[in-house]
Parts: sequence; structure tokens; C-alpha cells
Amino acid sequence: MTGMADEDDDLTREIRAAYGRAADGWASGPATVYRHLALALVAAAGMPLTGRRVLDLGAGTGVASEVLSDLDARPTAVDLTVEMLRHRRQHRPPAVAGNAQALPFRDAAFDAVVAACCLNHVPDLTRALRECRRVTDSAGLVLASSFPNGADHPAKAVVEEVLTRFGYQRPDWYAAFKARIAEPSGDPDTFARAAIDAGLEEVTVDQLDVEVGLDDPHTAVQWRLNMPHTLDFVATLTSRVRGELYERAVAASPLGMPSTVQMLVLRARVP
Ligand SMILES: C[S@@+](CC[C@H](N)C(=O)[O-])C[C@H]1O[C@@H](n2cnc3c(N)ncnc32)[C@H](O)[C@@H]1O
Repeated sequence: MTGMADEDDDLTREIRAAYGRAADGWASGPATVYRHLALALVAAAGMPLTGRRVLDLGAGTGVASEVLSDLDARPTAVDLTVEMLRHRRQHRPPAVAGNAQALPFRDAAFDAVVAACCLNHVPDLTRALRECRRVTDSAGLVLASSFPNGADHPAKAVVEEVLTRFGYQRPDWYAAFKARIAEPSGDPDTFARAAIDAGLEEVTVDQLDVEVGLDDPHTAVQWRLNMPHTLDFVATLTSRVRGELYERAVAASPLGMPSTVQMLVLRARVP
């Protein structure tokens, strides 16, 4: 018999493996959207980050690191998935593989943590936020984003419907991830409560509507076909069938889809 902790470990392994296989796809599809989200997150910092030591937690292929470097902050990247960190390695700040629930850094090593769409992948939200607090210096900032529960962009259903016609089925790990792991950080009160329980102060959670260009069906389809839970299936198709899938998904995307995505931003201060 396996307990919940074992199930969480198994799921974390599956998440890591899926992101590992999707690293190149992520960079050529979802990263376009996530770059806008990272810009909006960092803009919500409410304090100057120039010259500051900032941990980019769940850095992925580096969109938030890039935003931070453009501000002359001093980012360090950490991610569970080495393959994500390897993307454009030579052009990126220092990077370390590690888990948000047990960060491989000493206490107070940073002035701020920026976790762009990462904590919604972590089974124990309070534990991860406690780690954010531990590695951040006194009076430093913890800034984290997630997606509000139930606020799905219509492109998700449209593209999934077309994928299903081509034989796609949601992988088991993704269904478990959505149901068990992503939910708590998608609820503003639960997200804030986890930060308070982690010992953080001045906790706020705001919902933003971020302009990400999803009114362009090509951007929307590239985003959805290159996610870790879809790319495994898409990669099994021949290039001809993949092209057909892409064209049908673009054709099925109605004109006038919202160009924005809703995002939650948690902002908190280390005592
Ligand atoms: C949605 S992607 C976001 C990547 C990047 N921050 C961005 O905005 O494009 C989530 C990232 O979190 C990483 N991740 C998932 N679980 C993690 C964990 N427990 N600890 C650290 N990183 C994790 C994944 O490997 C992935 O790179």
C-alpha cells in the first residue's frame, strides 16, 4: 500500500519526466505566452530589483530570468527539470537542479524569490513557501504566480477537442496533477493561507488579466500543442499528420478569442 507522500513523489517524478521531454517544445510554444506572464509577475514586485540577488524558482527555459536580467537584477535559476535548464544554457544565469520543497541553497542567500507558474506544480505548497522564506533575506520579497481555478482560456478546450479527434487522451499524471496539485494555489484564499502558514508577512494575492497575444490562433495552437501533457502524443505523429492536426486546430479556433490569460500573483514579505 502506498501513502499520499509516495503518490506525490511518483507524480513529481512524472511531472519532471514530462517537462524533460517537452523542453524544446516549451521554448518554441508556451514560452511565448509565459514570457508575457513573467513580465507581469516581475512588474508586480513593488520594489526595485536592480542589483538584487533573485532566485528564479521553477525557471524552466528561462523567461523570468531574462526579464530579471533585463532589469539588471542578479538571477539564479533553479528547476526540478535539468533539460529545461539546459535550454540556451550558455546565454543564461547560473542554474542549479533542485526541488522547491527542499531548495539547495543556504539560508538568506537571496533578496527575493520569483516563482513564475511553478508553485502550482508542487504537492506541499506551505513547505515550498517555507523554503522560499528560508532562502530569502530578512525584509526580502517572495513573488509567485499561479492560475485561478476554473479560469480556463477557451483555446484549451478547442485544441483538446481537435487533439481527441486525432486519438489523444489526457495522460493519467496530468489528470492527477490538475486534481491534486494545481488546485490549492489556484484558490486565492488557500494560496494566501499557505504563505501565512509558512511564516511570511504582508501577504496579498491579486488576480491579473495579462495580455499574452492569444487572439492569434497560431500562438494559441503552438501553446497548447507544446505543453508537456500534449507534446508526448503530438511527437508520436508523422510530420504530415502533425501538420494536419495543426491546421485543423487553427481552423477550429474561433475569431475573437480573448488575448489575455488570468493569473494569480502572491506577494509576501520575509519577516
Ligand atoms: C509551467 S513551467 C514554468 C517555467 C517558467 N517559470 C516559465 O514561466 O516559463 C513549470 C516549471 O516548474 C518546474 N517544476 C515543477 N515542479 C517543480 C518542483 N517541485 N521544484 C522546482 N521546479 C519544479 C518544471 O520543471 C517547469 O520547468
